[in-house]
Amino acid sequence: MDHKFCAEYGDILIRPLRRYDIEPLRQWRNKENISRFLRPVGQISKSQQENWFEQYIHNKDVLFFVADYKRFRSVGTVALYSFVNDECEIGKLVIGEDSAKGNGLGESLILMSMCIGILYLKQNKFSLVVNKMNLAARHIYKNIGFVEQEQYFINDTDIEIRMEIERGCIMCNSKTKDINLFEENNKIVRNLGGGGFYHSVNIYFYLSIANLVFCQEVA
Ligand SMILES: CC(C)(COP(=O)(O)OP(=O)(O)OC[C@H]1O[C@@H](n2cnc3c(N)ncnc32)[C@H](O)[C@@H]1OP(=O)(O)O)[C@@H](O)C(=O)NCCC(=O)NCCS
Repeated sequence: MDHKFCAEYGDILIRPLRRYDIEPLRQWRNKENISRFLRPVGQISKSQQENWFEQYIHNKDVLFFVADYKRFRSVGTVALYSFVNDECEIGKLVIGEDSAKGNGLGESLILMSMCIGILYLKQNKFSLVVNKMNLAARHIYKNIGFVEQEQYFINDTDIEIRMEIERGCIMCNSKTKDINLFEENNKIVRNLGGGGFYHSVNIYFYLSIANLVFCQEVA
């Protein structure tokens, strides 16, 4: 769906997918080392990619993001989809540029997109599926705090793992407070800041002290 949500963390920006992105995305998706653990779709042609983009733009159940390094070079993708009440799936995680791999960008992209999900879409739970042999991706998800729910065969040989994470776990991640969130063409930058969570504890604490002082003065 055509959306406006963006997030920035250090040198990495995630932003809405645009038509000019679809050719590099097609080339990434067609690489053997990228598609190995993704849904088998064969080699994607230019016209298939055009059709996919047209369908995506009208699909209200998918938010696709492209990740740019230093706001000028696209390096990967991530998406939120299948929204049901306050839960959704997260996936389409790809670091497509070989030179960008090995820097922990996958973890950043997952965290940034979930922060958008929490702040703008009021999501409380995120789930994903990952091939059991995809050790790098599993390492990222486990590190962030995703918890394994079930394992099942998807064909004679491959096993998929379904994992989930709750909002509270994301809010406690130390990176979350450094992720800035904004909408395209809107100057207001917001931040979950460990945020909603820690600040409300602090405010409650200060209010309690103020209340105590006030009560003592009255007494
Ligand atoms: C999965 C993917 C996004 C990770 O890219 P990345 O963020 O550049 O990954 P990195 O190389 O920085 O590795 C991420 C972590 O996994 C660890 N890791 C990498 N390979 C590993 C392996 N074979 N076994 C265990 N851990 C591994 C790294 O040490 C790193 O951990 P650290 O941050 O604690 O040091 C990327 O490989 C990719 O695009 N794969 C193809 C598409 C795909 O499979 N997407 C996921 C679908 S569920």
